[in-house]
Amino acid sequence: MKLNSEKISMLTAYDFTFARIVDKANIDVILVGDSASNVIAGNETTVPITLNQMIYHASSVVKAVKRALVVVDLPFGSYQSDPHEALRSAIRIMKESGAHAVKLEGGSEIGESIDRIIKAGIPVMGHLGLTPQSIYKFGTYSVRAREEHEANQLIKDAKFLEETGCFATVLEKIPSKLSKKVSKETNFPLIGIGAGNHVDGQVLVLHDLLGLTHEFNPRFLRRYMDLNKTVGSAIKKYVDDVKNSDFPSQNEMY
Ligand code: KIV
Repeated sequence: MKLNSEKISMLTAYDFTFARIVDKANIDVILVGDSASNVIAGNETTVPITLNQMIYHASSVVKAVKRALVVVDLPFGSYQSDPHEALRSAIRIMKESGAHAVKLEGGSEIGESIDRIIKAGIPVMGHLGLTPQSIYKFGTYSVRAREEHEANQLIKDAKFLEETGCFATVLEKIPSKLSKKVSKETNFPLIGIGAGNHVDGQVLVLHDLLGLTHEFNPRFLRRYMDLNKTVGSAIKKYVDDVKNSDFPSQNEMY
């Protein structure tokens, strides 16, 4: 797709019902993101979600998908300690969920793990810039790599990921100018989230795009509908109908 200058669309999904809708809408890549920790489990960060929970989400998604590529996040704690554990975690995701690839956050510091996973035949997507699993190192979700030394490190890491064999990388919340530089210095697909338009594709969190999450309002987020309001109104109407004995009607009874 990159070679044909066709932009790549990527969106998260965490369950069977939504994954089926997303797949039927012709998305190119479905990410079973560890953002499930926030939007599904209600945690403040992505840190608590476990490998077993990611496998549960991924296997539900895989059952629904007929055409998209399914990428699954390796959660925090499942790959940072050593490359053997990283490979074991990636193998569990592939065997137990049926997904097609895994995603890891970080650059050269997790190089050995990425190399081991790729050598075992598992495709790896990288993730640079804002890496939410390291939130307690940075302390904020602000734009990353504004400083020259951070920007240079990010470019180095992107080149490293490509050389190590990652098939693509996510670039999260970095200046658009920096994405342009990364794009000039690398040849593999760059998927942006808050990284501007000099990239090969875009990814968003499904619940943000649908307007289910109201509290999260970064500049990069385009909401395509206000599903929070729509769902809330439907449920209020149902409550009223039950209270007023308007539901069920004669036609809805046996
Ligand atoms: O977990 C996730 O949803 C992600 C995207 C924000 C890229 O990693």
